[in-house]
Amino acid sequence: MIVGKLQELVLELKVGDVMTADPITLGPGDRMSDLRDLLRAHHFSGLPVVDDKQLVGIVSVEDFIKFLGNGKDDCAVEEEMTGVVQTLYADDSLTHAIGRFESSGLGRFPVVERSGGALVGIVTKGDLIRGMLRRLEAEFHEEEIHRYRASHLFEDVEADATALTLRYDVAGQDFKRAGEASSRLKRTLSHLGIRPDVARRVAIGCYEAEMNLVIFTDGGTIDAQVRPASIVVEVRDEGPGIDDLEKALQPGYSTAADWVRELGFGAGMGLPNIRKMGDEFDIRSTAGKGTVLTVSFDTSEAGDETD
Ligand SMILES: Nc1ncnc2c1ncn2[C@@H]1O[C@H](COP(=O)(O)OP(=O)(O)O)[C@@H](O)[C@H]1O
Ligand SMILES: [Mg+2]
Repeated sequence: MIVGKLQELVLELKVGDVMTADPITLGPGDRMSDLRDLLRAHHFSGLPVVDDKQLVGIVSVEDFIKFLGNGKDDCAVEEEMTGVVQTLYADDSLTHAIGRFESSGLGRFPVVERSGGALVGIVTKGDLIRGMLRRLEAEFHEEEIHRYRASHLFEDVEADATALTLRYDVAGQDFKRAGEASSRLKRTLSHLGIRPDVARRVAIGCYEAEMNLVIFTDGGTIDAQVRPASIVVEVRDEGPGIDDLEKALQPGYSTAADWVRELGFGAGMGLPNIRKMGDEFDIRSTAGKGTVLTVSFDTSEAGDETD
C-alpha cells in the first residue's frame, strides 16, 4: 500500500494546528447590525456566539440573509443564531475533521475545550487546506536544507579572488522557451551547492528578468557571476529601453500588449519582484539603446536562514 504525503498529513495534523485561534466573537445580546459590520469588515462566513467564554451558538452569513429576508427590525443575535452547535476539539485529527465537514455539509466548526466547553478557535475548510500547504512547505524547506551540502565550490580554489561566470542567451519573443535560462541557472546553482533559499531567490528574479527580455526586447543575455559570498546577476539587452524607469518600477505598471496578458504575463509585478528578491538592485536604461539590470545576492552563511 502506498501511503501518500497528504494521507500522512491529515493523520498527523490536529485541528489546533490549522484553526484560527481566539476568533472574533459576538455576545448573545449583540445586535444583528453588529454582525453585519463584522461580516463587512472581515469577510467572515460566520461567527461564534459566546457568553462568558461558553459557546452558545453560531451565526452565519446565511442567518443574516434570512434575517434580512424576513424584514425584521434590528434584534439580538441570539434570536437568529443556530443554538445547537456542532463542534470539534483542538486535538481532533484532520482526518476526523474532514469526515465531519463531509457528513454535516457545514462550512465551519467552532473548536472548544474538551472539559468545560470554552471556545478556543474556529476552523473552516480553507483553514484545512492552508494548514496542509503550510506544513508541506515547511517540510519541503527542511528537507532541502538537509540535502544541501555547505558550499564546496570554492573550497579547493587558491586565489585572491575567484568568480565563475554563467552566461545564458535569451531570444526575444520566443514564448515557448521563455523561462529556460532561469531553470538552467537554478539547476546549476543547486549543483554548485548554493544555499537553496538563495538559489530560489536568484531563480525567481532571473525568471522575471528573462520574461521581460522575451516580452519587450529582441533578446539579450543573463550573466551570473558566482563568487564565494555573492551572486551578481546582470541582465542586458539592446533596446528598446525604458522611457520612464520610475513608472516601470511601480507595482502593477505594465505596457504589455493584450495578447501577452492573455498568456498570463504582464501583471506589472516583474521589476518590483526582482527588487524584492535581491539584496541589491540597480537598473539603467536608455531609450533606444537598451537596459542593464543588476541584482546582487548575498550567499554567505551569515545571511538570514528564515523564509
Ligand atoms: N528589458 C526591458 N526593455 C524594455 N522595457 C522593459 C524592460 N523590462 C521592463 N520593461 C518595461 O517595464 C514595465 C514593467 O515591467 P515589469 O515590472 O516586469 O512588468 P510586466 O513585465 O508585467 O509588464 C514593462 O511593462 C515594460 O514597459
Ligand atoms: Mg515583467
